Amino acid sequence: MKTLTLEAPAKINLTLDILGRRTDGYHDMRMVMQAVSLGDTVTVAEAAGGFSLLTEGISLPAGKVTLEQRAADAFFHRLGRPVPGLEVRLAKRVPAYAGLGGGSADVAAVLRCLRTLYAPDLPRQALEEIGLAVGSDVPFCVRGGTCLAEGRGELLTDLPPLPDCAIVLCKPDFGLPTPELFARLDGADLGPRPDTAAMAAALARGDLAAAAACLGNVFERVLTEEEGEEIRSIKEALLRHSALGAAMSGSGPTVFGLFDDRQKAVRAKEALEGRYRQTYLAAPVKILEKME
Ligand code: C5P
Repeated sequence: MKTLTLEAPAKINLTLDILGRRTDGYHDMRMVMQAVSLGDTVTVAEAAGGFSLLTEGISLPAGKVTLEQRAADAFFHRLGRPVPGLEVRLAKRVPAYAGLGGGSADVAAVLRCLRTLYAPDLPRQALEEIGLAVGSDVPFCVRGGTCLAEGRGELLTDLPPLPDCAIVLCKPDFGLPTPELFARLDGADLGPRPDTAAMAAALARGDLAAAAACLGNVFERVLTEEEGEEIRSIKEALLRHSALGAAMSGSGPTVFGLFDDRQKAVRAKEALEGRYRQTYLAAPVKILEKME
């Protein structure tokens, strides 16, 4: 029986800039995305009939067509073949609604499994296109590694990887709904923008300190005072523990810090996890093609 298990790495945004609202309701983005070793584990198995999704570590709302099922439907539609019976199992470790692309990573891992099991010759570009129909961050999660992402997030350019480092991720206990944050941006004065070109140049030089110095996320400019205070206090704690730089990831609220020394990162994690249960230690993950 066909079955495959793959890791589904989460992502962080080294930079996140928004260029403007589009006529289709989405926003044009310019961001540098990095896959990280915090991830879920996804198993896809051919089953007797229908689609079932079994999860550990999270409960799913009943009666909704899941993104995983939409991805499977879109995949077989693209192949022009009927959807076989499928069972998808998710072992969740990445917090949901956290700005880490956990849901997108799971969808991307389902697509990568389906390609290996049913259409190994399907080009990665096609898989990224299928992913975009399910979510804007899915194409990057199909590809992994380090990318400049533009358009809705699907126009991907590979970048040199973030140099080896330790990454501490810390999610405070409030949620930031993505569509609402995008709405707050419209018409807001965003002030100085993250320097995407400087980030790309730092990556090209393999200069971790320079990359850490130009982390930036425009969503941090549209937080309420209370939200902003909590994000700032996590950033300050990371920097006090010798992070080279810290920023919020995606539409938040997870904050991450980059460390050139694993021991310092371990101490930062230990200091934060007393207050924030969802604190993790991770590392950059290189492009996924080589992992399969
Ligand atoms: O593509 P996805 O379903 O993940 O997007 C969730 C929501 O985030 C969209 O409905 C939209 O409100 C917002 N979004 C956006 N521009 C993007 C990506 C997402 O406005 N490039």
